[in-house]
Amino acid sequence: MAKQIDIKQVLKEALKAVDQAANVKALQGVEREYIGKRGRLSGELKKIGTLPDSKRKAAGKAIHEAVATFDVALVQKLQGLGAKASAKKRKGDVGGLDVTMPGVKRDKGGVHVLTAVRRDVEQIFGSMGFSVVIGPEVETARNNFDALNIPQDHPARDLWDTFWLEEDRQRRSPASLLMRTHTSPVQIRYMEKNSVPFRIIAPGETYRYEATDASHEFQFAQVEGLMVDYRDSPTPVTMQTLLSVLKQFFDEFFKTDVKLRVRPSYFPFVEPGIEVDLSCILCEAKGCSVCSQTGWLEMLGAGMVHPNVFKAVGFNPKRVQGFAFGFGIGLTAVQLLPSK
Ligand code: PHE
Repeated sequence: MAKQIDIKQVLKEALKAVDQAANVKALQGVEREYIGKRGRLSGELKKIGTLPDSKRKAAGKAIHEAVATFDVALVQKLQGLGAKASAKKRKGDVGGLDVTMPGVKRDKGGVHVLTAVRRDVEQIFGSMGFSVVIGPEVETARNNFDALNIPQDHPARDLWDTFWLEEDRQRRSPASLLMRTHTSPVQIRYMEKNSVPFRIIAPGETYRYEATDASHEFQFAQVEGLMVDYRDSPTPVTMQTLLSVLKQFFDEFFKTDVKLRVRPSYFPFVEPGIEVDLSCILCEAKGCSVCSQTGWLEMLGAGMVHPNVFKAVGFNPKRVQGFAFGFGIGLTAVQLLPSK
């Protein structure tokens, strides 16, 4: 077994020798003596292998620390002696700190495009008073369909090609589990636990059982919006509110004056239902490949919450009204495409 050496004591002597070195040559001698090939400090590292397992780690650490401390003192002294050039030349360190070495290049991480977009969306809606609500990706058929006015065997269910989790797929009872096909079930979850008035957004992943191509994914992120107030409120939530909220959001999101185009549409959980197109921000509505030369981007589905949805969560549709919207955040990332 190796002779035990008091590293602290050796370091003390080493630092003293550094301090006392009168010139560069003397200092180089000190360097050799302590961290040269058979140096008193570095040489200790070789003995580690002979130590019992339990002592190795601590001994290694102590030696490395001593070498590092010594090294710093050495370089400082060198610089103090006006020998910066030779400080730069020092090479082949024994694991010590050489402040003249170039730093370690670190790879920088970046935020994923969709995460960046989601954060933007949350921040802008947040500034408009909407709070962020999160729901689970595995849902019941009841929340994803039934309570949203899409009863079993209703043909509208086919609008959402669904991944069912349960083996009794044929039954598809309200309790059957599925991967949510949209973020709309968060409407149900939220309204069952909260009272009017409120305004929320619900961002999250959604799933559809479909073939993938350049513009279709079986998993994609949506943002749901829901704002409800009493009908007799001084500021009831109307279709007009919906359009001004959307206009304000997209203006701020795309940092330009966007045009909205509204088309009537059908979603079972809203009445009336609309689809909203946005003037293409890539080509300034002149027509490009992203907007299929139309100048318009199909952006979202929306409408006034259907009375049956309010009934499903125990609200009185004669007393409350509000809007809902949902859009895929993938498309909003077009702002990040190189233009034209
Ligand atoms: N959930 C609908 C979809 O995924 C979008 C939508 C949300 C439409 C809310 C209207 C109201 O297609």
